[in-house]
Amino acid sequence: MIVTANIDEVRQLRWAVPNLTWGFVPTMGYLHAGHLSLVQLSLAGNDKTAVSIFINPTQFAPTEDLSTYPRNLAGDLAFLEAAGVDLVFTPSDALMYPPGFQTTVSLSQVTQPLEGSSRPTHFAGVATVVAKLFNIVQPTRAYFGQKDAQQTIVLRQMVRDLNFNLEMVIGPTSREPDGLAMSSRNALLSAENRAAAPVVYRALSAANAAYEAGERFGEVLRQIMIEMITAVPQARIDYVSAADPRTLQELDVVEEGVLLSTAVFFGNTRLIDNILI
Ligand code: PAF
Repeated sequence: MIVTANIDEVRQLRWAVPNLTWGFVPTMGYLHAGHLSLVQLSLAGNDKTAVSIFINPTQFAPTEDLSTYPRNLAGDLAFLEAAGVDLVFTPSDALMYPPGFQTTVSLSQVTQPLEGSSRPTHFAGVATVVAKLFNIVQPTRAYFGQKDAQQTIVLRQMVRDLNFNLEMVIGPTSREPDGLAMSSRNALLSAENRAAAPVVYRALSAANAAYEAGERFGEVLRQIMIEMITAVPQARIDYVSAADPRTLQELDVVEEGVLLSTAVFFGNTRLIDNILI
């Protein structure tokens, strides 16, 4: 496995044998089984697999958890080597955002609701860094997790709008045995909050079950989630949503499909999760 923080070296390796397919898994490190499942999809679907590890400062607002975001580069590299990854790109902040950097990739509509309403600068940071990573690695396929549902929608839109020559592959959310969606941020939960956090998936599952039983009113689906989450004292709702999966606008009545999603604070840690119906 080659580990490099050098853009030319990444490009040289990527194009050493031009007709090989490359899968790419962008990450912010502190890797867990959810990342591994994306890596495995990439290994199975491509000749070579590249992973990036970069905690992208521009997708964190000044009030957010950049400084406490968990890190373990040595552990991550051992994990990726054991998985059979070919290339790991570990750029520095200065390499990605050198003095004088002034370009931002921003999308208009799909970035506004949900995560965008709570984190207004987040998706410009994500889209900009992912566009840069795509231009550096030039993968055949790129792999993202369904847990970050809006991120997948935003990035698919960016790929279409900017004509990136790659296929987006979205892997299912990996869960702990109690249903909690795997996330690097779970490591920041206190024991008490970790015990409370599975309510997020329980609430989504309850709304999903109501839908399966025939409920089609968006407001009823949202209320089911609100009631379950507010019953847990450690949980503080940021938003609950039953939205159109393409436009992310809240639905009065579910006709074709629905993205049930929520963001919930446990202490200072904000967790997101969703079920796509
Ligand atoms: O999903 C993440 O970990 C990040 O948003 C990503 C896609 C690696 C961009 O920094």
